[in-house]
Amino acid sequence: MATDDKAIDSLSEQLAQLPPLEKYPNCYPEINPLTSILHEITGVDPKIIYPNLQWTQTLAHGDMVLPIPALRVKGKPQELGEQWLAKWPGSPLVEKPTVNGTFMPIFFKTGPLTKSLIPMARKLGPEFGKNKANGLKDPTDPSKGQKRIIVEFSSPNIAKPFHAGHLRSTIIGGFLAKLYESMGWDVKKINYLGDWGKQYGLLSLGFDKYGNDEDLEKDPINHLFYVYVKINEDVTAEKAQVDKLQSEGKTEEAQKLKDEGLDEQARRYFKRMTERDQAAIDRWQKFRGLSITKYRETYKRLNIEFDEYSGESQVPEEAMNKAAATLLEKGIAEESDGALIVNFTKHVPGKAGKSLEKPIIRKKDGTALYLTRDISELLNRAEKYKFDKMVYVIASQQDLHVKQFFKIVELMGHKDLADKCQHINFGLVLGMSTRKGTVKFLDDILRDVGDFMHDLMRRNEDKYQQVENPEAVADTIGISAVMVQDMSGKRINNYKFDLDTMCSFEGDTGPYLQYAHARLCSITRKAQLNEEDIASADLSLLTESHATDLVRVLSQWPDVVQNTLKTLEPTTVLTYLFKMTHVLSSSYDQLKIVGSEPGLMKARFALYDTARLVLNNGMRLVGLTPVNRY
Ligand code: ARG
Repeated sequence: MATDDKAIDSLSEQLAQLPPLEKYPNCYPEINPLTSILHEITGVDPKIIYPNLQWTQTLAHGDMVLPIPALRVKGKPQELGEQWLAKWPGSPLVEKPTVNGTFMPIFFKTGPLTKSLIPMARKLGPEFGKNKANGLKDPTDPSKGQKRIIVEFSSPNIAKPFHAGHLRSTIIGGFLAKLYESMGWDVKKINYLGDWGKQYGLLSLGFDKYGNDEDLEKDPINHLFYVYVKINEDVTAEKAQVDKLQSEGKTEEAQKLKDEGLDEQARRYFKRMTERDQAAIDRWQKFRGLSITKYRETYKRLNIEFDEYSGESQVPEEAMNKAAATLLEKGIAEESDGALIVNFTKHVPGKAGKSLEKPIIRKKDGTALYLTRDISELLNRAEKYKFDKMVYVIASQQDLHVKQFFKIVELMGHKDLADKCQHINFGLVLGMSTRKGTVKFLDDILRDVGDFMHDLMRRNEDKYQQVENPEAVADTIGISAVMVQDMSGKRINNYKFDLDTMCSFEGDTGPYLQYAHARLCSITRKAQLNEEDIASADLSLLTESHATDLVRVLSQWPDVVQNTLKTLEPTTVLTYLFKMTHVLSSSYDQLKIVGSEPGLMKARFALYDTARLVLNNGMRLVGLTPVNRY
């Protein structure tokens, strides 16, 4: 027994000193002890074994499970499994598996797992779970630099409400940027504003009538929205007037109103903008600049900072003309009624071509469209950023639009480029309203949820008194509530925006995660142990099943992150964090710190502190700000 213990200790020590991760961007089968054992007993190529080893959803089913048929060996799974296990060589790290029909559940030996996991996680700290090697161009030679990814997300429209689609894009995009950063990629975050088109000519006209500089400087987002609403009311009234004149037979008067009306004026104004008329452009830059300053502040509350505020207005006319010329030259686009269209049925065979429809690339009057701008912008980014990958976080309502512009870029001869682009889509948010009515801007959403949270906190007066700066805490927890509700399901699913559910402390919510984190922090505060105490803890005292289960879940964290890079679903992280916090909360009664003898206290504390670390890392990865007390 004593020699066994010694062997385990030295093994754990070795594991805790794992070789630098740079060498293993996705972890290779060769360094996975399980893969080599399975290779030994089955004879199957490790490259087939490794990707088929799965983490389990429930600890009762093992730490990992091998679906026997996945190894593609002829025979009945149960019998094959039994034959293989007869050759099991034994391992200091892994228990001998059993066979359960088609599955082979595998359990790690908990002693060595505990002794390697806790010191390793604590040593890595905020880095635990990250794998910077993944983003290296060449994992064996870091000097060759990182791979670059562009994440385009949020992309609201100036002077229009920040709707649910923008909220989801912001949350999911922010998460993806953090995910790739933690995997060592060079991430560029781009906000592609809706800030161009005839309606912005109209906005400028509206500003002359309803706007003023003072209100603009004070609150650009709301003021521009106010102007936009007012001038659109005028447009509606004018249209009604035209109809009225026409119905009264006053055709000439009706035509005159049409020719000189707001719509025409807006068109002309916008034309001036596209021709880079200085006065028109200066004003537009001002609206845009002030809006961006305000957006920046709001995004900051969500821990998001953009590297570039691009936008439809930033796509040069010349670039679009050039793209249109190429499209014509290559026979991809064709004239139709004076406009330029792409008839996909001619370029993509079968159903696929039909489903892509016949989008317009350039209007009769020569102006470009949303689609044209996206095509040019993509080509421009390729040149400017030389990216390895680009993701567009856009609502699934725009699936067709995105398919069209990816396909057009491919048809233009840039298949390699189109292949580097990926659309990350998502479903709708239903009923996004708060107590104060339907929300319009991100700021309003966050403020209303913060207020709601603050009211809830106040109901527990004793606890409330202990919180320093309760308003700020309510704000942070409110933001967590919104974000977690958004990220809990699969992206493509719709969900209902529901304040009561998202703000509840029970169930799988943001406030619940914050509570779990704050509770762990309070353990840290009360224990008052220093690093040395913890490092010297005798981890072999952690023998209770509650303790070993917690260790087992915690050890899954790096693989959860790795797996998230495959799913690109924030729910992969959240599902794990909830699973982990459930195991944690059921262990508090069993693994008490207060009142335990000092040795045990240290060991348990080391375990809880590792849980705190993993929870903190996980919350930050999805973009939450963990609170220490509330
Ligand atoms: N501003 C657009 C909207 O609100 C979203 C832009 C999405 N990004 C893009 N490259 N098309 O609908």
